[in-house]
Amino acid sequence: MDFTELVSAAQQAATKAYVPYSHYPVGAAALTHDGRLITGCNVENASYGLTLCAECGLVSSLIASGGGRLVKFTCVNGVGEIITPCGRCRQLLLEFGGKTLQVLTAQGECTLEDLLPQSFGDDDLDQYATKTGE
Ligand code: THU
Repeated sequence: MDFTELVSAAQQAATKAYVPYSHYPVGAAALTHDGRLITGCNVENASYGLTLCAECGLVSSLIASGGGRLVKFTCVNGVGEIITPCGRCRQLLLEFGGKTLQVLTAQGECTLEDLLPQSFGDDDLDQYATKTGE
């Protein structure tokens, strides 16, 4: 599956967004290691800080549909433009796609490590546990 298909799926997902406050729909789409296409859209809340980004919905869908790893990811806004995931969602994507996740942004293809250098992840916890024996 190439990024063209992911962009289309993300655009479709954006049409489902619940955005009565920002009026800024986002759709996200990803390919999993075993070939599944998963999507998500943003869901806002009257208590603004509780807003769920499109990536949150995508990760929930990943786990609910059997789990696995993300290998390709992109997200778009309500007019179909490719956008770059917010900082919090870069960390969310790291958990399930790792540093090598391929990401299509407005500036082209890159890895998640390009977007989130010097990241903190599960390997840091593993290294600590190895040292402490816990
Ligand atoms: N948003 C996302 O869904 N993902 C991002 O990576 C950037 C921001 C949403 C959150 C909010 O509903 C709207 O875009 C405006 O910030």
